[in-house]
Order: sequence, then C-alpha cells, then structure tokens
Amino acid sequence: TTSVCWLPDVGDSPLKIFVLAKKKINDVFVGIQSYVEESNKFLSSIKVESNIVSEQLVKETSNFRERITGIRDVLTRDHMKVVFFGRTSNGKSTVINALLQDKILPSGLGHTTNCFLQVEGGDTPEPYLLTEDSNDPQNVQSVAQLAHALNSEKLGDSSLVRILWPKEKYPLLRDDVVLVDSPGIDVSPNLDEWIDKHCLNADVFVLVANAESTLMLTEKNFFHKVSERLSKPNIFILNNRWDASAFEPEFLERVRKQHLDRTIAFLVDELHVCTRLEVEDRVFFVSAREMLQARLKIKQGLAPHTGALADGFQNRYFEFQDFERKFEECLSKSAVKTKFEQHTQQGKAIIKALQHIMELTFENSHKKKKEKMELRKEHKERLEFTQQQLRLLTDEVKHHIGHLVHKVEQQVAKALNE
Ligand code: GTP
Ligand code: MG
Repeated sequence: TTSVCWLPDVGDSPLKIFVLAKKKINDVFVGIQSYVEESNKFLSSIKVESNIVSEQLVKETSNFRERITGIRDVLTRDHMKVVFFGRTSNGKSTVINALLQDKILPSGLGHTTNCFLQVEGGDTPEPYLLTEDSNDPQNVQSVAQLAHALNSEKLGDSSLVRILWPKEKYPLLRDDVVLVDSPGIDVSPNLDEWIDKHCLNADVFVLVANAESTLMLTEKNFFHKVSERLSKPNIFILNNRWDASAFEPEFLERVRKQHLDRTIAFLVDELHVCTRLEVEDRVFFVSAREMLQARLKIKQGLAPHTGALADGFQNRYFEFQDFERKFEECLSKSAVKTKFEQHTQQGKAIIKALQHIMELTFENSHKKKKEKMELRKEHKERLEFTQQQLRLLTDEVKHHIGHLVHKVEQQVAKALNE
C-alpha cells in the first residue's frame, strides 16, 4: 500500500453543489430585495393625489419585502437531509459515525438506538441536545453520557432528539448535511408514523442491510410504504458488515452476486426507483466499523490498520469512499431541486408582479403627462386666438378712433371756418 491512499478525505466534495447553489440563490435574493426596496421607496414618494399609484399597490410592494425576508430566512435554514433505516444492529449508528469520522452516536450490541436521532451542525463550541418537549438545550459531554441521557428520557420510538454538534469540526455538518438515525425497523409497530414524521422531507434514504444475512421482509415492506408516499425516493443500500466475508473467501464472489441480484431486483423491479444502469451507483458492500476505526486512527496520525490487514480491507475502504461520493452527489442534487426550486418560483413570481406594478405606474404617469400636454396645447391655442382677436379688435378700434378723430377734426375745422 502506498501512503497516498490513506490521506484523510479532502478535496472537492459534491456537497459543494448545494453549498454553492445556496450562496448563489441567496445573492439573487439580495438583488431582488434591493430592487423591491427601491421600488417601494419610489412608489411611496409619489403623492396619492396625483392618481398615478394607488395606496393598495404601495402596500403590495411592502408585502413583497416581507415575503423576501421570509424566503431568505427559510433559505438559511435549508439543509440536505438523509435518513438511515435498517434492522437492529445492522450498523446504522456506526455508518453515521464513520461518515462523520468520529464516535458521536452510541452504538453497540443489541437494541441501542431507541428514538430518532438527528445529528446537525451547531454554532456553539460544545455539543448539546434538544428534545421535542423542551426548549432547554442539554449539555452533552461524551457518547456514554449521550447514551445515558437518551435512555433516561421516556421517549417514544417516533420521537426526535436533535443533537447539535459543533459544525466547525465536521465537514459534513458544516456543509448543511443533517443525518437522521432511527431505531431498528424490526422493533417498531409505528412505521406509518415514522414515515409521516421523518421521511417526507428527506432527500436521501440509506438502507443499512446486513451482508451476513439478506434483505428481510420488514425492510422491504417499509420501503414499499415509503415509495408509495414519495415519488421515486433516492434509496441507497449498504450491505454492511462485509468484513465478515473476509473469513470465507471461497464464498465471497457468490455471496456478493447473490446480494447484488437481490438488491437490484428490489430497487429496479419492485420499487421502480431507479434503472438497471443507475443501480450500480446505489448498492455498496462496506464495513462501517472498519471504516470508523481506520478514520479514527488516521485522525491520530496513525496507520489506518494496525495489526494484520484483514483480507479485502482496502477494497472495502475504497468502496466506502465510493459510496460517500455517489451519495453526496445524489444528496446535493436532490436537495437543490426540492428546496431551491420552490424559492426560485416564488422569487420569479414576486419579480413579475413588481414589474407589472412598475409598468402600470409608468403607463399612468405617461398618460397624465400626455393629458397635461394636451391641456397646455389647448390653452395655448385659445390664448393665440384671443390675442389675434385682440389684435383685430385693437386694429379696428384704432381705425375707428382714427376715423373718429378725423371726423372730429373735420367738424372742428368746419366749425372754425363757419
Ligand atoms: P440499533 O441502534 O440497535 O438499531 O443498531 P444499529 O443499526 O445502530 O447498529 P450499531 O451501529 O449500534 O452496531 C451494532 C454492532 O455492530 C456494534 O457492536 C458495531 O460495532 C457492530 N458493527 C457495525 N458495523 C459493523 C461492521 O461493518 N462490521 C462488523 N463486524 N461489526 C459492525
Ligand atoms: Mg443505532
């Protein structure tokens, strides 16, 4: 093995598609906001008596301002949501820990996770948790303490506990990914409630299956229900615990093919959620425990695997990374679509309505101007006519007076002569 293979995962994450789109769409809304504000200011400055713009239209532009602020608020909270399901002990919590590259969620033998746990990025340097029925954040110091806190709560299996972990330390959380862990699918009778409460706004589902056994009916039925409620959900299947296969290399290929055939049939022929071509990027054979341990070692500056290298370790390591890339790409693209398409439509509608108001105002003011000009023209014409009349009159008067004067002069001369 070369040392290059084991470098911590950096580089261009596909999640940046979402992060960048979010930034861009926010910039667009900053632009729309200033346009709306300017228009509002302008329209408010026009006097109501002028009859160019009605009070109602000015109010409407104020409403646009509030709506934009609302959209920008939602936008800052928009995130990519991925939910993990699977039978008890298949390794759901361990997969999430491996993705986060740290032991954050309690994991262990037996039935461990007993309610929905949502890991998301927090802004404080210390992690804390929030339960559904209290607004008070509770401190979390360690995984053990978290496990204890969760166990001491009397929570139903559908209830949600949010775990806010300092986002600065975790790239996934910093990029607005929210990871939701669930209790084993085989222990809950409340699957419909689970779907209503936790699945309808999910961008991606990960089914953590057990490569040591096979897909079970409870797992299949659950995803049948999910795909009845959502059109074409994005589903990934992780055949976890693939490290167990290392002990039986003679069966490896056959078992892999069997799992692959069954999962492909499930996703393509039963659920119809992807095509035969796409399904290659949806099914992976991994070992979450190995991956987590390797990453913890790498973080400490150690080799990822001390002791004897288990057979196929490197393949499983790379396959996990491959899963991460494909999954992040799908998550990012899906979230851009489901979250931002709505905002874009709303932004467009506001701009269109505002444009209509501004055009109406322009037309009104243009009409008023024209009316004024016509009035002025009429005035001018009337003035000219009067002046002319006056001139004629003056001429006539002058002529008349001249005539009179002449007549008087003649009379005076005549009188003098007489
Ligand atoms: P619940 O919360 O009880 O539903 O289980 P879970 O699906 O969250 O499983 P969890 O992550 O707690 O893992 C159960 C046990 O399996 C733990 O002891 C893990 O260390 C172990 N485990 C998880 N992934 C693997 C794996 O890939 N290989 C092996 N060998 N063990 C694993
Ligand atoms: Mg668990």
